[in-house]
Amino acid sequence: MTQSTTGSTQDEVHAKKRRCAQAALHYVESGSVLGVGTGSTVGYFIEALATRPGLIRAAVSSSEATSALLRAAGIEVLDLNEVGTVHLYIDGADQANRARHLIKGGGGALTREKIVAAAAERFVCIIDDGKLAGALGAFPLPIEVIPMARALVTRAIEARGGRTVWRRGFVTDNGNQIIDVQGLAMCDPPALERELDAITGVVTVGLFALRPADLLLVGTEAGTETI
Ligand code: 5RP
Repeated sequence: MTQSTTGSTQDEVHAKKRRCAQAALHYVESGSVLGVGTGSTVGYFIEALATRPGLIRAAVSSSEATSALLRAAGIEVLDLNEVGTVHLYIDGADQANRARHLIKGGGGALTREKIVAAAAERFVCIIDDGKLAGALGAFPLPIEVIPMARALVTRAIEARGGRTVWRRGFVTDNGNQIIDVQGLAMCDPPALERELDAITGVVTVGLFALRPADLLLVGTEAGTETI
Protein backbone atom coordinates (compact mmCIF):
# COMPACT_ATOMS: atom_id res chain seq x y z
CA MET A 1 0.00 0.00 0.00
CA THR A 2 1.24 3.55 -0.82
CA GLN A 3 2.72 5.53 2.08
CA SER A 4 2.70 9.32 2.60
CA THR A 5 5.76 11.30 3.70
CA THR A 6 4.58 10.97 7.32
CA GLY A 7 4.66 7.20 7.03
CA SER A 8 0.86 6.97 6.98
CA THR A 9 -0.75 4.77 4.35
CA GLN A 10 -3.19 6.43 1.93
CA ASP A 11 -6.03 4.82 3.89
CA GLU A 12 -4.71 6.39 7.11
CA VAL A 13 -4.34 9.80 5.43
CA HIS A 14 -7.94 9.63 4.26
CA ALA A 15 -9.09 8.59 7.75
CA LYS A 16 -7.35 11.73 9.11
CA LYS A 17 -8.99 13.89 6.44
CA ARG A 18 -12.37 12.40 7.35
CA ARG A 19 -11.69 13.05 11.08
CA CYS A 20 -10.93 16.79 10.70
CA ALA A 21 -13.80 17.19 8.20
CA GLN A 22 -16.20 15.68 10.73
CA ALA A 23 -14.81 17.98 13.46
CA ALA A 24 -15.49 21.04 11.27
CA LEU A 25 -19.20 20.30 11.44
CA HIS A 26 -19.22 21.58 15.05
CA TYR A 27 -18.41 25.10 13.82
CA VAL A 28 -21.35 25.32 11.42
CA GLU A 29 -24.23 27.47 12.62
CA SER A 30 -27.73 26.23 12.00
CA GLY A 31 -29.57 28.20 9.29
CA SER A 32 -26.41 29.91 8.02
CA VAL A 33 -24.98 30.40 4.54
CA LEU A 34 -21.72 28.49 4.51
CA GLY A 35 -18.65 28.99 2.31
CA VAL A 36 -17.31 25.67 1.05
CA GLY A 37 -13.82 25.02 -0.38
CA THR A 38 -12.51 22.41 -2.76
CA GLY A 39 -10.67 19.08 -2.56
CA SER A 40 -10.91 15.61 -1.11
CA THR A 41 -10.95 16.78 2.54
CA VAL A 42 -13.81 19.12 1.70
CA GLY A 43 -15.44 16.18 -0.07
CA TYR A 44 -15.53 14.39 3.29
CA PHE A 45 -16.90 17.54 4.89
CA ILE A 46 -19.74 17.68 2.35
CA GLU A 47 -20.44 14.00 3.07
CA ALA A 48 -20.72 14.86 6.77
CA LEU A 49 -22.93 17.85 5.97
CA ALA A 50 -25.23 15.62 3.93
CA THR A 51 -25.96 13.58 7.07
CA ARG A 52 -27.51 16.75 8.61
CA PRO A 53 -30.20 17.82 6.12
CA GLY A 54 -31.47 21.35 6.74
CA LEU A 55 -28.52 22.29 8.98
CA ILE A 56 -27.44 25.12 6.67
CA ARG A 57 -29.68 27.39 4.62
CA ALA A 58 -27.41 27.34 1.56
CA ALA A 59 -23.77 27.41 0.49
CA VAL A 60 -21.37 29.60 -1.47
CA SER A 61 -19.00 27.42 -3.44
CA SER A 62 -15.33 27.85 -4.41
CA SER A 63 -15.42 25.70 -7.57
CA GLU A 64 -17.63 24.04 -10.14
CA ALA A 65 -16.60 20.64 -8.69
CA THR A 66 -17.74 21.65 -5.20
CA SER A 67 -20.99 23.12 -6.55
CA ALA A 68 -21.77 19.75 -8.14
CA LEU A 69 -21.06 17.90 -4.87
CA LEU A 70 -23.18 20.34 -2.86
CA ARG A 71 -26.13 20.08 -5.25
CA ALA A 72 -25.86 16.28 -5.24
CA ALA A 73 -26.11 16.48 -1.43
CA GLY A 74 -29.31 18.55 -1.77
CA ILE A 75 -27.68 21.83 -0.74
CA GLU A 76 -28.58 25.03 -2.58
CA VAL A 77 -25.62 26.93 -4.02
CA LEU A 78 -25.83 30.74 -4.01
CA ASP A 79 -23.84 33.34 -5.94
CA LEU A 80 -21.56 35.23 -3.53
CA ASN A 81 -22.96 38.48 -4.95
CA GLU A 82 -26.38 37.57 -3.56
CA VAL A 83 -25.01 36.83 -0.11
CA GLY A 84 -22.52 39.48 0.99
CA THR A 85 -20.64 38.38 4.08
CA VAL A 86 -20.26 34.66 4.65
CA HIS A 87 -20.29 33.73 8.32
CA LEU A 88 -17.95 30.73 8.00
CA TYR A 89 -15.70 29.27 5.30
CA ILE A 90 -14.50 25.67 5.49
CA ASP A 91 -11.65 24.58 3.21
CA GLY A 92 -8.63 22.32 3.01
CA ALA A 93 -5.03 23.22 2.14
CA ASP A 94 -1.92 21.65 0.66
CA GLN A 95 0.41 22.87 3.40
CA ALA A 96 0.08 24.91 6.60
CA ASN A 97 2.34 26.30 9.30
CA ARG A 98 1.44 27.01 12.93
CA ALA A 99 0.84 30.70 12.12
CA ARG A 100 -2.03 29.32 10.00
CA HIS A 101 -0.47 30.55 6.77
CA LEU A 102 -1.41 28.19 3.95
CA ILE A 103 -0.38 27.01 0.52
CA LYS A 104 -3.49 26.24 -1.49
CA GLY A 105 -4.39 25.56 -5.09
CA GLY A 106 -3.23 21.99 -5.61
CA GLY A 107 -6.69 21.41 -7.05
CA GLY A 108 -6.51 24.65 -9.03
CA ALA A 109 -9.40 26.42 -7.26
CA LEU A 110 -7.23 29.01 -5.49
CA THR A 111 -8.83 32.16 -6.92
CA ARG A 112 -12.41 31.42 -5.93
CA GLU A 113 -11.13 29.98 -2.65
CA LYS A 114 -9.33 33.23 -1.88
CA ILE A 115 -12.43 35.22 -2.78
CA VAL A 116 -14.71 33.21 -0.49
CA ALA A 117 -12.09 33.29 2.29
CA ALA A 118 -11.92 37.10 1.93
CA ALA A 119 -15.71 37.34 2.21
CA ALA A 120 -15.81 35.12 5.29
CA GLU A 121 -15.92 36.31 8.88
CA ARG A 122 -14.23 33.08 9.94
CA PHE A 123 -12.06 30.61 7.99
CA VAL A 124 -11.68 27.10 9.39
CA CYS A 125 -9.08 25.07 7.52
CA ILE A 126 -9.13 21.26 7.64
CA ILE A 127 -5.95 19.26 6.96
CA ASP A 128 -4.33 15.97 7.84
CA ASP A 129 -1.19 16.19 9.96
CA GLY A 130 1.10 15.33 7.02
CA LYS A 131 0.43 18.85 5.69
CA LEU A 132 1.51 20.70 8.84
CA ALA A 133 5.09 22.01 8.53
CA GLY A 134 7.47 24.27 10.43
CA ALA A 135 7.90 26.32 7.26
CA LEU A 136 6.00 26.49 3.99
CA GLY A 137 7.62 25.58 0.71
CA ALA A 138 7.75 21.80 0.37
CA PHE A 139 4.53 21.91 -1.65
CA PRO A 140 4.95 23.82 -4.96
CA LEU A 141 3.22 27.18 -4.82
CA PRO A 142 0.40 27.41 -7.41
CA ILE A 143 -0.02 30.74 -9.18
CA GLU A 144 -3.03 31.38 -11.43
CA VAL A 145 -2.12 33.56 -14.42
CA ILE A 146 -3.87 35.18 -17.34
CA PRO A 147 -2.94 32.86 -20.27
CA MET A 148 -1.25 35.55 -22.41
CA ALA A 149 0.93 36.57 -19.43
CA ARG A 150 2.20 33.07 -18.58
CA ALA A 151 5.70 33.58 -20.02
CA LEU A 152 5.94 37.11 -18.61
CA VAL A 153 5.02 35.92 -15.11
CA THR A 154 7.32 32.89 -15.44
CA ARG A 155 10.28 35.17 -16.20
CA ALA A 156 9.42 37.41 -13.24
CA ILE A 157 9.24 34.43 -10.88
CA GLU A 158 12.47 32.92 -12.21
CA ALA A 159 14.24 36.28 -11.78
CA ARG A 160 13.34 35.94 -8.08
CA GLY A 161 14.96 32.48 -7.92
CA GLY A 162 11.78 30.41 -8.38
CA ARG A 163 11.66 27.23 -10.46
CA THR A 164 8.43 27.04 -12.43
CA VAL A 165 6.37 24.26 -13.99
CA TRP A 166 3.40 25.12 -16.21
CA ARG A 167 0.43 22.89 -15.30
CA ARG A 168 0.01 22.07 -18.99
CA GLY A 169 -3.50 21.24 -20.16
CA PHE A 170 -5.13 22.48 -16.95
CA VAL A 171 -7.62 25.35 -17.25
CA THR A 172 -9.09 26.91 -14.12
CA ASP A 173 -12.82 27.55 -13.62
CA ASN A 174 -11.97 31.15 -14.59
CA GLY A 175 -10.37 30.17 -17.92
CA ASN A 176 -6.83 30.82 -16.71
CA GLN A 177 -3.61 28.77 -16.40
CA ILE A 178 -1.50 27.69 -13.44
CA ILE A 179 2.22 27.65 -12.88
CA ASP A 180 3.60 25.72 -9.89
CA VAL A 181 6.63 27.30 -8.24
CA GLN A 182 9.38 25.92 -6.03
CA GLY A 183 12.52 27.43 -4.58
CA LEU A 184 11.21 30.83 -3.39
CA ALA A 185 12.22 31.82 0.15
CA MET A 186 9.14 31.59 2.36
CA CYS A 187 10.48 33.00 5.62
CA ASP A 188 7.96 35.88 5.45
CA PRO A 189 4.81 34.52 3.75
CA PRO A 190 2.74 37.76 3.95
CA ALA A 191 5.57 39.78 2.32
CA LEU A 192 6.03 37.16 -0.40
CA GLU A 193 2.28 37.06 -1.09
CA ARG A 194 2.25 40.86 -1.45
CA GLU A 195 5.28 40.80 -3.75
CA LEU A 196 3.95 38.06 -6.05
CA ASP A 197 0.46 39.61 -6.14
CA ALA A 198 2.05 42.74 -7.64
CA ILE A 199 3.43 40.94 -10.74
CA THR A 200 1.38 41.95 -13.76
CA GLY A 201 -0.53 38.99 -15.16
CA VAL A 202 -0.85 37.19 -11.83
CA VAL A 203 -4.49 36.53 -10.96
CA THR A 204 -3.99 34.80 -7.63
CA VAL A 205 -1.08 33.45 -5.60
CA GLY A 206 -1.81 30.25 -3.67
CA LEU A 207 -0.27 31.71 -0.50
CA PHE A 208 -2.97 32.46 2.06
CA ALA A 209 -0.96 34.52 4.55
CA LEU A 210 -2.45 38.03 4.36
CA ARG A 211 -5.77 36.36 5.11
CA PRO A 212 -4.69 33.21 7.00
CA ALA A 213 -7.02 30.60 8.40
CA ASP A 214 -8.54 31.59 11.74
CA LEU A 215 -8.50 28.01 12.93
CA LEU A 216 -6.68 24.91 11.73
CA LEU A 217 -8.28 21.55 12.45
CA VAL A 218 -5.56 18.96 11.99
CA GLY A 219 -6.60 15.35 11.61
CA THR A 220 -4.18 13.02 13.42
CA GLU A 221 -3.97 9.32 14.20
CA ALA A 222 -5.57 9.97 17.59
CA GLY A 223 -8.16 12.65 16.76
CA THR A 224 -8.12 16.31 15.78
CA GLU A 225 -5.68 18.98 16.94
CA THR A 226 -6.96 22.57 16.98
CA ILE A 227 -4.51 25.40 16.18
C1 5RP B 1 -7.77 23.20 -4.01
C2 5RP B 1 -7.14 23.30 -2.68
C3 5RP B 1 -7.34 22.18 -1.72
O1 5RP B 1 -7.79 22.70 -0.52
C4 5RP B 1 -6.04 21.47 -1.50
O2 5RP B 1 -5.51 21.08 -2.76
C5 5RP B 1 -6.22 20.26 -0.59
O3 5RP B 1 -6.83 19.21 -1.26
P1 5RP B 1 -7.12 17.83 -0.57
O4 5RP B 1 -8.13 18.07 0.52
O5 5RP B 1 -7.67 16.98 -1.71
O6 5RP B 1 -5.83 17.26 -0.04
O7 5RP B 1 -6.47 24.26 -2.35
O8 5RP B 1 -7.44 24.29 -4.83
